[in-house]
Amino acid sequence: MNKKILGLATAALLSLSMSLQAAPVTIKFSHVVAENTPKGQMANEFKRLVEANEKLKDKVVVEVYPNSQLFGDNKVLEAMLLGDVQIAAPSLSKFKKYTKQLQLFDLPFLFKDMAAAEKFQQGPEGQELLNAMKKKGLVGLGYLHNGMKQLSASNPLRVPADAAKQKFRIMSSDVLVEQFEAVKAVPVKKPFSEVFTLLQTKAIDGQENTWSNIYSKKFFEVQPYITESNHGLLDYMVVTSEEFWSGLDKDVQAELKTAMDKAIALGNKVAAEKAESDKKTIAESGRSEIIELSDEDRQKWVDIMKPVWKKFEKEVGAENIAAAQKAGE
Ligand code: LMR
Repeated sequence: MNKKILGLATAALLSLSMSLQAAPVTIKFSHVVAENTPKGQMANEFKRLVEANEKLKDKVVVEVYPNSQLFGDNKVLEAMLLGDVQIAAPSLSKFKKYTKQLQLFDLPFLFKDMAAAEKFQQGPEGQELLNAMKKKGLVGLGYLHNGMKQLSASNPLRVPADAAKQKFRIMSSDVLVEQFEAVKAVPVKKPFSEVFTLLQTKAIDGQENTWSNIYSKKFFEVQPYITESNHGLLDYMVVTSEEFWSGLDKDVQAELKTAMDKAIALGNKVAAEKAESDKKTIAESGRSEIIELSDEDRQKWVDIMKPVWKKFEKEVGAENIAAAQKAGE
């Protein structure tokens, strides 16, 4: 074989071997919160674990997009079904277009505390709900905690009548509409990325969120009062598209699931810590007064908001409501 033929044969072999080596799968993980939050840290930990995993090396690349940089929560699931995003973790209040069942998690005063939420999510009913959107092409990979919601406002809220006629930003959930209408307030559905400006310009009077979101997005700097109501849950479902997930090699899928479970465990730890530390930082800032409710006043909020459950019982399932309550016993 002369030199020229040998050179050509080598080049052909090289290009064949390069084309046989599959290009790495890119996972775009899009979310709306800051990086110093439970979800922000969970997403970064997932990326770190995938990069550190020898079995995933050269096979998977993870790109994390925080702060609604890529998509807001209103668009991210559509984008996922189109293949433009592979992982997201919207709040459980944002899946209404795909299933009514997850509205369960929004029912006011349903979960006694985070331990009850964890117990329900890991129990049979919670695990079943991870599959609630399969027919629509979305699969739940797990739940992630943020925490219990508090009410922030421009006026002090001690009893439900204090909320009357006040405009509150809510996530895109009909349960939350009913919850605020129950106290004669005006709910306004808006994306998370707009909340700070809406509060700052006084286009709205208040909002509900967890300590870590109130702190990381600086809502406390433009809301003089925060009522420690713990009236509802703000947790997430980590989701991916069925088409993307089932198209992965089985061993890659298993490694990714393990990395996700570990990242979620870290996120949950951060959530528990931040519920304490971000509340403390807000209290120490002196920017916002934290109102603690007496048992008697808290009961007034429970009594007026709890009837909302009945309206959604059919959609979320009475058995799921019962299981969620039982988790708190
Ligand atoms: C909100 O919209 O208030 C939250 O869902 C944001 C988040 O993802 O924590």
